[in-house]
Amino acid sequence: MKIPISMKMTILRGLTLGAVLLPAASLAADSAAPGVTVNHLGVNNTLVRVEGDSRYLLMPVQEANEDARINVLVDGKLDRTIFVRLAKSKVDYQVPLDLEKYKGHKVVLNILTSQDRSSVREASNDACWQNFALADTFDTVNREKYRPAFHHTPLYGWMNDPNGMVWKDGVWHLFYQWNPFGSKWQNMTWGHSTSRDLLSWEHHPAAIEPDGLGTVFSGSSVIDRNNTAGMGENAIVSLYTSADASQIQSLAYSTDNGVTFHKYAGNPVITLDSEARDPNMFWHEPTGQWVLALAHALEHEMLIYTSPDLKNWTLRSAFGKGLGAQDGVWECPDLFELPVEGTDRKKWVLLCNLNPGGPFGGSATQYFTGDFDGATFTPDRDSEGNVPVKWMDFGKDHYATVSFSDAPDGRRTVLGWMSNWQYAAEVPTMQFRSANTLPRDLSLFTAPDGQIYLASAPSPEVDTLRGRLVRSAGKTSLSERPREYRLPQANDGICEIVAELAPKAGSAVTMTLSNVQGNKVVLTYDEKARTLSFDRRESGITDFSQDFPAVTVAPVIGSDAKLSLRIFVDRSSIEVFGNDGRLVMTNLVFPESPYTTLSVSSAGKAAMQSLAIYSLTPAASR
Ligand code: FRU
Repeated sequence: MKIPISMKMTILRGLTLGAVLLPAASLAADSAAPGVTVNHLGVNNTLVRVEGDSRYLLMPVQEANEDARINVLVDGKLDRTIFVRLAKSKVDYQVPLDLEKYKGHKVVLNILTSQDRSSVREASNDACWQNFALADTFDTVNREKYRPAFHHTPLYGWMNDPNGMVWKDGVWHLFYQWNPFGSKWQNMTWGHSTSRDLLSWEHHPAAIEPDGLGTVFSGSSVIDRNNTAGMGENAIVSLYTSADASQIQSLAYSTDNGVTFHKYAGNPVITLDSEARDPNMFWHEPTGQWVLALAHALEHEMLIYTSPDLKNWTLRSAFGKGLGAQDGVWECPDLFELPVEGTDRKKWVLLCNLNPGGPFGGSATQYFTGDFDGATFTPDRDSEGNVPVKWMDFGKDHYATVSFSDAPDGRRTVLGWMSNWQYAAEVPTMQFRSANTLPRDLSLFTAPDGQIYLASAPSPEVDTLRGRLVRSAGKTSLSERPREYRLPQANDGICEIVAELAPKAGSAVTMTLSNVQGNKVVLTYDEKARTLSFDRRESGITDFSQDFPAVTVAPVIGSDAKLSLRIFVDRSSIEVFGNDGRLVMTNLVFPESPYTTLSVSSAGKAAMQSLAIYSLTPAASR
């Protein structure tokens, strides 16, 4: 029944915020959609009652609005609290609250908003109240031109770091920081996707959801082959940060291959009185124990713990104070051993993501190489005794990169979050926000400066994307007048460009991707400076953040003038791999329409040894 507004005002005058125990009959009530009743209790407090047995309650979101705090009451008891940017003046999209597990029970949302209101009347005019709806399906069909075709994205909602990645029985499990209730960071939950080829992903329901200890921040997973934790042989055991007023480390485990997780009753398993997060653990064979690296975020150090059983952890050492890039906060560590190419030696690598303080502003992944004895990490030093700063990727959009546990054949396979905290929440997408990088397999090599560096090459699976060879060229001499090559337009212009550049010593080669609108990305290999630069200042839509237009620059390690490139274009990202991953750059771009042309030129004397442009045929091209 609709109550005239004037009457609502009379009823509500005198009610205080939070007076939720009044009998429903005395409240102002609106009927929104069938099965949804809205009762305004006060200027910032509304009850939404849900009737019937539909699968989803669709909640209307306006991205620019502030979060409303929603207590989901089931038969009068608090089941969970979520934060949703409920629509005020317009509905941008809807997000689903899954009602499946509440079937047969009474569901009431007690909603608290924080906006300034002069009256209940004003609050009752918000767009959201008329736009709650019940439905049995939630439409996840892609409606966004910038959604990649061969990179992992969440079906809907916000995503940041990859979490708890683990390979088990032929399946790559990717958990990730997910907001199921909107496309900005909030309600951190572990989303879950699986793949057999690291390229086409199946989406699963949320794996680990917030609880009374907090939301679920980043962490890692291992397979507990010998049941050291007592959760079952071969259980997936995950450690994550419970984040609320404090950041503490909690354990969850799954005995059904990641479908359902159970939280350990003894949580938390590690507490500190300062910000510490993103536990990353592995089995250390030589000492027969579990090792864990934990980011002591504000202290700019990684803490190393050990444990016999994944539940009881002992602090063994701290690494990093005063070393490497020290800005911002240190986050998302990963520690692993790799052979050094061309030698019979092995070295340890400590990945250390930091934000801000990356080489081009905002977030980036630095790493240290060194030795690890099961308790202490000792970094390599250069000939002057300094610990050099090393970056894993020289683009702006590569963060929170960590590896899969238990990858087969000794592989060290990583995924990063393909965005930057500077503008991740502002990029021009809405149904979803953020993708992962292409999967990369890591190796170590020794550079002419005597230092050991990481190479990140596209994982072998990526080769299976190749469709037709649409353009190719043999040795071609280059001049100031650009040579032009049409890029494939199938699947909105996704493609791989393979080029071998051979400038004469001291000259430069420029490769430009462009479209009819004049949007362009300019890659310049400056042989004299030994750098490859990526200029996206005119790449398309760039004005959503002043930090987006940028030129990123990577060193070309070595003295050979030749540079072989693999460039992957996937609608809103370009990843450049040079010399088998010894140089990597990952950058987002938002062209108004797909780039159609590759132009190659040289200001000096240069040749392109070869060029091949492939169309790509991702299995699950949306
Ligand atoms: C890194 C990070 C982590 C944290 C997570 C929260 O991007 O800040 O340190 O666990 O994101 O979503």
